[in-house]
Formats: sequence, structure tokens, C-alpha cells
Amino acid sequence: MTDAERLQALRAEILRHDRLYYVEARPEISDRDYDALWDELVALERAHPELVTPDSPTQRVGGQPLEGFAKVRHDPPMRSLDKTYAKGDLLQFDAFLRQQLPDAAWDYVVEPKIDGVSLSLLYRRGRLVRAATRGNGEVGDDVTANVRTIRSIPLSIPCEAPLVEVRGEVYMPRDGFAALNRAEEEAGHEPFANPRNAAAGSLKLLDPREVAKRPLDAVLYAAGALDGVAFATHTELMRAFAQWGLRTPPWRRLCLDIGQVLEAVDELEALRHTFPFEIDGAVVKVNQRGLYARLGSTAHAPRSARAYKYAPECAQTRLRAITVQVGRTGVLTPVAELDPVPLAGSVIARATLHNADYVRDKDIRVGDTVEISKHGDVIPAVDRVIPERRPAGAEPFALPARCPVCGGETERLEGEVATRCVNPECPAQRVGHLQLFVSRNALDIAAIGGRMAEALVQAGLVSHPLDLWSLDPAALADFRLVGDDGAERRFGKNAQEVAAALARARGLPLHRWLYALGLPGIGLAAARIVAAPFPSFSALLGDGALFRDVLDFYAATERKTDDRDLLTGEIAARAEALAKHGLILRDDPAKSFRKRFLLTIKPEMARVMARFVASDYARRLAERLAALGIDPKPAEAEAPTGGALAGKAFVITGTLSQPREAFERLIRQNGGTVQGAVSKKTTHLLAGANPGGSKWDKAQALGTPVLDEAAFLALLGAPPPAKPAAPAYVQDDLLGDLA
Ligand code: IVH
Repeated sequence: MTDAERLQALRAEILRHDRLYYVEARPEISDRDYDALWDELVALERAHPELVTPDSPTQRVGGQPLEGFAKVRHDPPMRSLDKTYAKGDLLQFDAFLRQQLPDAAWDYVVEPKIDGVSLSLLYRRGRLVRAATRGNGEVGDDVTANVRTIRSIPLSIPCEAPLVEVRGEVYMPRDGFAALNRAEEEAGHEPFANPRNAAAGSLKLLDPREVAKRPLDAVLYAAGALDGVAFATHTELMRAFAQWGLRTPPWRRLCLDIGQVLEAVDELEALRHTFPFEIDGAVVKVNQRGLYARLGSTAHAPRSARAYKYAPECAQTRLRAITVQVGRTGVLTPVAELDPVPLAGSVIARATLHNADYVRDKDIRVGDTVEISKHGDVIPAVDRVIPERRPAGAEPFALPARCPVCGGETERLEGEVATRCVNPECPAQRVGHLQLFVSRNALDIAAIGGRMAEALVQAGLVSHPLDLWSLDPAALADFRLVGDDGAERRFGKNAQEVAAALARARGLPLHRWLYALGLPGIGLAAARIVAAPFPSFSALLGDGALFRDVLDFYAATERKTDDRDLLTGEIAARAEALAKHGLILRDDPAKSFRKRFLLTIKPEMARVMARFVASDYARRLAERLAALGIDPKPAEAEAPTGGALAGKAFVITGTLSQPREAFERLIRQNGGTVQGAVSKKTTHLLAGANPGGSKWDKAQALGTPVLDEAAFLALLGAPPPAKPAAPAYVQDDLLGDLA
């Protein structure tokens, strides 16, 4: 088989598994096997960039953020539906149709009305060429790049017709919505009011890579423009969709008369909460498509369909108390403790109150009778207070000044709705901190997943992420973890991967270590900015002067109102000092002073950093890192392209004369790359004493050249790396043998 043939076969195979997984919810292969297919495809496409086509599964998440969305004209227009809350209206609908079509016979289809955002997909000769929002029905936004990231939407369909316009609904499933809102609240952002807003907001993000992270999904329930295909009934259309791998609504009833429609509507209402997404009603459609043109439409809606809306479900109960939970990122969330009450299929005794502003704005007080509903059909929330029923003496609520878990200080960052516990060692944040620490953008210790992190903290083995370095590898291998299926598994070989990743983490750049600490407001981008002026982590931890200078600079500019004052004296001197650190961007001199001196470190970042560096925690952290012999350095500037090791990829194994980091640095400084495991891409294995068996064997099997230290240095034409001042690498050598 040629590479091109293999590539085609892989794409078809992946497409099939995508469909089984995302559309039909009956996967046939494990994630691992799927990943193997995927990796093979990526490798082949990398080797043959000329064979990459836009409908390859690897091309879902495209390049750069957009500036805005192009406008798209809908032809035919995307109409809405006439809505009713009364069964009587459905009888009238039927009577009206009979009056309009005295000679015709038809039946009805009843479908769930999904509460999302309408979407139009254009397939030309089977290729997805455009996706657009409804907009005002005539003109919408071109959201193709974003919609391509939705895995259940096929990039191509097996239909050669010149044009098939498919319409449907993008939505956010309930569980995805709940998780997204949890993450938003933990990040200090305002949560989304409901899944529809979350779906709409996600579709309108300008960066498709961000959209890809949002749990969006879609079902398709109508046709727009069609050329080269035709369907007699809606049922046939839905069957064709399903055959093409398009997801259709998961429930449908064919009804021979309006009596059956009323029954179907009730049947669906009883199932309302069993769907993975929110439905807000039933849609009743005439099945015979040939009748649509005869019935025509109003400006607003086709006459051949009606929406029957279910009443939103809510309940009233008494607010017994407001407790405060501390989340994984330290965010304090007020929680309503309620007299238990049945609501939308379950009994509710607690409901989120989101944040202090929410409680204040709705004036929610303990003792109140409150109305609750399930936001997104899943998150119980207090919607309002019944003011007439407020008991005398009910007091307004205030968040506690101190963290209810650790008693530490709390604060609210500017621009956030959340109040957080600022104690980085707060027990409530242990799991969250460990999960962040091991995450890909932080220190990338992939073998420790979310559940393992939780288990390690619960077992008391890790209370701070640095404890990972003191775990006994044998004990870690013996650690038992309860899986999704409830079965216990030994951590086993994963322990070796952890050991290797911990060894690698030592060499990761400073900004990733800083990010891994999870300081409030210090995300990856902020960490890069904050770390930039420092030669090492120990330098950053040892000196908060720079951050204080930044704060002083901001404070000084605040006090001045006249730009001319800013150019002289104290402020100018401070600006100069900061400029030396590369912290100030001098912009267009024609601009006002404030605009001309853009400070890369924002005041909030400087405040968080100044406080952190001055804390006992930072001091203890510095001591522990020193004891472990870890002192991360800045990311090296772009690897020199002409270096002696340019284009070479090394794996290191065994004990060398000096710490492994020194060799890693040497390789990178000379334009080479360092890998964790031997693969086809590895050009050399650098082997010291007692080389690790698996790396050695793999290199032998692949015929990868093996260099000892002397041969390596000869290749480099360089003197051996300088010995570091404080060698505390005992553990690393141990890990080296394991890795
Ligand atoms: S058919 C001509 N079927 O409800 C309109 N719409 O409130 C064709 N919706 O704009 C729509 N589920 O976004 C249809 N099964 C379903 C639906 C559905 C949700 C949405 C659609 C429409 C809105 C009207």
C-alpha cells in the first residue's frame, strides 16, 4: 500500500469511528486504538503535507483567531416557529391545515424542541463548505471555522448532490454545561445563565481553538436549499441524514392524526429530563414535504409546523441557611440549603447561589421563601425571592471574611465576581493544585490524571505537588486506583512514566513552573511575562523588589493627572528602572505618556506576585526546591538553527558524569532537541552507565546510533558542561534507571 492509499484508509477508518462514537454513541474501539490510528495519520500527513485536505479529521481545528465573522445570506431564509403553550392551539393548527388543504392527506411528526442555537450547514458535493448562524433569519454569521471543531458534524457526507443545506441546532449538553460553568466560576468569571447562552457564546468565540474546548454538539432536523436530491417526507429526510452520518433528534413519533400528536407531546414531556440536552418543548411538523410550498409561510414562520412549549419547571421552598463552599481554585461559593422539594425529576435540598453579587442583587436572605429552577435542566439555582413571605428580622448575607476551610485570608480580584481564599496551601485546593501542576501546559506529568491526583491527595500521599518527588516509586507502582467501572487497578507501570516525567519536569522552563503554582491570575501567558526578567526560579522567589517597583510605578502614575508631570522626577526614574528589565514597552512617542509606556506586567499580576514572593509559602517552596536540586531557568531563546546538533533529536539514558539537565541544556543550546522516549524520530541515544533497558532495547531495535559521553562531546566539539554548584541529584539518578 502506498502512503497515499494508507492515508485514505486511515481517514476513512477514523471517520467511521468518529461517527460510531459521536453520532451513534456505540464505539467499537478503545480510545487507545483510536489514538494509534490518529497518530499514524498525523505522522503520514506530516511526511506528505501535499496530501492534507480540508476534510481530513486532523483539520478540524484550524489556524488563527478570526478578526470577526463574515456575513452570510440565507436562501431560503431561516425562519423560526410559531409557538404555543396550549393544547387547544394544536387542535386549531390541525383545523387550519384541513381548511387550507381540503383535498390532501398528511401525517405529523413530533420531535423534541432542542434549546440551542439554529445552524445552517452547506455541503457541496458532499463537502462541508460553510456553516452559519441564523442571525436575523435573512443574514447570519459565517462560523465555519468554529463549527468544524464540533466532532459530531461530519466534514464530508457520502452524497454527491451539488448542494445540500442542512439545518439544525447547536447545543451544549447538560453535563458539559455544568462542567463549563464550574470552570468559569472557578476562574472567577460570571457563569452562563443556561446552556443556550453558553452554546451561543461559544459559537461566537473568535478563536476556533477555544471553541474546540467547549463541549458543543449538534442535531440536524431540517433541510434548507437542496439541489440534486429530493425527499417526499420529513421521515425520509431524517433517514437520509442518519445514513449520511448526520445526527438527528434522538426521539421522533410519526402520528397519523392530531389526537396522536397530543399523546406524543405528553409522552415527550414525561421524557423531558432524560435527554442529555435541554428541551423546551415539542415541534409538530407536517410529514409530507410536498405540502410545504402550498402552505407557505409567514414572515416569521412556516405554516407547516408548530412549536408546543413546555412550562418551565420551578418550585418554591424555604431557604434554611447559606453555607459557603471552597472550590478547587479557592473560589468561595455561597450555597443555598433548602427545605427539600421535588423539582424536574429529583428532590432538591441545595442550590447554587453563584457568588456574593448574585445574592446581593437578588437580595436573598436566610429564612426567605425562594423560587428555584434547574438552570440548563441540571444545576439547581435560586431564581428569586418571594418578598411578601420574608420573615421579620431576615438579615442580608455577606461572605465570611476568612476562608471557612483554612481560616486564611480571602480577596476579590479586580474584574472578577469571585472571592477566593488566597492561601496556596488551603486543603480545599490541594487536589486542584495538583491537577494544575501535572497538566500539559504546566509540568506535563500525563500519567497522573484527574482521578489519580484526587486519590493521591485523599490517601495523604501528596499534600503539595512537590511531594511527588519524594514518593517511593515502588509504593507508587503498588498504589491502587478505582477506575470508571468501579474496579481497582494497580498504578503499576504508570509509576515509571511518572518518574520519567518528574525527571523531565526539572528541565522545563521557569514560566511553566510559575504557571504550575496556580497563583490567582497567573495563567500561562501571565507567567511568561512575569518570569521574563528573572534568570532562575530561585532568583524570582528570592526578590520581590521588581514587583514592588511595578506597583510603585502604577501608584505614582495614578497620582498624576498632568502628563507632563509624568515625564520627570520619580516616575521617569521608575520607568527607566523597569525599562532595564524589559518590562516597559515604549510605544509611539506622539501618544500620551500613559499610553506611551505600556507596562507588560499588569498591576493585578504584580500584586499577586509581590504578595506571593513575600510569603512564608514562597520561602518554604524555595527551600524545598533547593533541597530537590530544582531551579528552573527561562525558556531558551529560539534554538540556534545552525548549531552543531541542529536537526538532531536525543534521548538520554543511564548515569552520566553530570546531571542530566546539564546535557539537556547543552543539546538545546546547540540546536538539538531532547525527547523522553526513543522513537523513529530519535537520531541518537546518549547512554551513560547502567542505561535504562527499554530505551536501550528500543534504540537497538530501531538501529538508532548510541553515543557514550565522550562520543557525544566529540560530536559537539565542546568542553564538558560546567558542574553546578549544589548537586542534589541523588533521586534523579535513581529515576534515570527507572526511566
Ligand atoms: S424545525 C423553519 N425542529 O426552534 C424552522 N426547529 O423556536 C425549522 N428548534 O428556529 C425549525 N428543535 O432553532 C425545528 N426539532 C426541531 C427543533 C427546532 C429546536 C429551534 C429552531 C427554531 C426554533 C424556533
